[in-house]
Amino acid sequence: PTHPPVVLHWLPIIGSAIEYGNDPIAFFRKCQEKYGNVFTFILLGRKVTVALGPKGNNFILGGRHSQMNAEDAYCHFTTPVFGKDVVYDVPNYVFMEQKRFIKSGLTTENFRAYVKMMEEEICSFIENDSAFRIYQLSDERGEWGQFHPLNTISEITILTASRTLQGKEIRASLDKTFAQRYADLDGGFRPLNFMFPNLPLESYRKRDKAHKAMSDFYREMIRKRRARKSFSDDDSHDMIAALLTQKYKDGHQIPEHEVAHIMIALLMAGQHTSAATGTWALLRIAEHPEIGAALYNEQIEHFGIGEPGVFRTASYEELRALPLLDAVIRETLRLHSPIHSIFRKVTQDVPVPRSLSSPRSTVASRPYIVPKGHYVLACAAVSQRDPKIWPNADKWDPYRWLEKDGVAAQAYKAYEDVNGEKVDYGFGAVSKGTDSPYQPFGAGRHRCIGEQFAYLQLGMLISTIIRKLELRLDIPFPEVNYHTLIVLPKDPCNISYRRRWE
Ligand code: HEM
Repeated sequence: PTHPPVVLHWLPIIGSAIEYGNDPIAFFRKCQEKYGNVFTFILLGRKVTVALGPKGNNFILGGRHSQMNAEDAYCHFTTPVFGKDVVYDVPNYVFMEQKRFIKSGLTTENFRAYVKMMEEEICSFIENDSAFRIYQLSDERGEWGQFHPLNTISEITILTASRTLQGKEIRASLDKTFAQRYADLDGGFRPLNFMFPNLPLESYRKRDKAHKAMSDFYREMIRKRRARKSFSDDDSHDMIAALLTQKYKDGHQIPEHEVAHIMIALLMAGQHTSAATGTWALLRIAEHPEIGAALYNEQIEHFGIGEPGVFRTASYEELRALPLLDAVIRETLRLHSPIHSIFRKVTQDVPVPRSLSSPRSTVASRPYIVPKGHYVLACAAVSQRDPKIWPNADKWDPYRWLEKDGVAAQAYKAYEDVNGEKVDYGFGAVSKGTDSPYQPFGAGRHRCIGEQFAYLQLGMLISTIIRKLELRLDIPFPEVNYHTLIVLPKDPCNISYRRRWE
């Protein structure tokens, strides 16, 4: 059998780790030119086979579970952080049931309750946090202040997520011990931990201690809730309330430690992804003040009450139906998908479809085999900015999503034609196809279930900020930092703002 071509490298074990780590997108594009859509690179002793383009996405995200799986690729990294018996620490059919439990908490009815809670949190943050001092001081339009979007949005994201999904006990303790524990746990969720699950380092010890403390905190909270039996209005909509009503197919309740660990997993899955997307969105809006103005007008048009600067709270349905806000989030996710690499471990030799093999390869007539033991990697970020698919691919242009017959619409249409399935174009709806060129939330059996929640959180963040602040970028657009697990902007990273007064 023919294996995919191996990317040329000089250092035997390290392989291409440095190039990949510095800028995976540029590295993959370069390799694509040289080797085609399928190639293998060495990453600290591991063999990683990359498959690019919509067909490459499909090969990996639509791959058979018996041939490649996520749990063998991720569990060494996630289990110390999330805890035992959930997500990748259990066979996939068990995790599938757990995903169903989580979905039971992510309902439209709950989202309706979250809108007001999120609005309160974000308003209170802008009115009280020192990042927005200039806003608080000025009672008219005037001075410009600056805030660091990554730090600020990270705080707002954990506040809104804990107020809504995580529950009022977590929200209350955020002001105290929980924040430090979260920071310690997070310190164990880095690329270093991904590459080396256990090193005798302080950050690993802190991670393990923080996991235990957080797990105990949730378990205590669950015991108290179970003892109470009934829920009050302000905790009947959170995820714990939902999980406590769920049962496995064989009839058993979700054990307390599993509920606790699912809650930690959700906290970790939603925090950096949403915070990074919110940060990039505000940076782009600040870079394009005309879009900021258009977003503001969209708010006035739908929620203005005729008094300058005063708005009513949107309903969840109304928020979903704002075209420009939706397009801004979609376009931000196209260019700044927070997750750049999706991994699976190959457990059985798997043939690469012929249509994916390199046309330049002299052996293209023989299909490649990706051997057992390799990892496979999908990087939708490459197809999301492929100039053959997207005109002005590198330009951030939310309006491309609003053109009726634009390329974005065509991509959906093609998906519909192939799959014979109608795609909902509404707020937060993205094609589910494993062969779509646009996959910020992944696809297939591991597809994200937090998408609608993320759109709600991001929609509330952007609209609440836009109602109060005018944004501007006085620095060059920040460079991208790929050294973090999640794609983040490098410093200097500041957004200039002033109070809106009209
Ligand atoms: C899975 C992206 C927010 C929970 C995924 C995957 C991606 C992703 C790419 C697929 C991973 C893989 O195939 O290996 C995002 C982005 C987000 C976001 C871009 C925000 C903008 C959230 C939130 C939650 C969440 C808010 C929880 C409330 C999950 C879960 C999975 C998942 C449970 C399933 C993992 C699996 O089945 O293996 N997400 N996510 N995500 N995400 Fe999200």
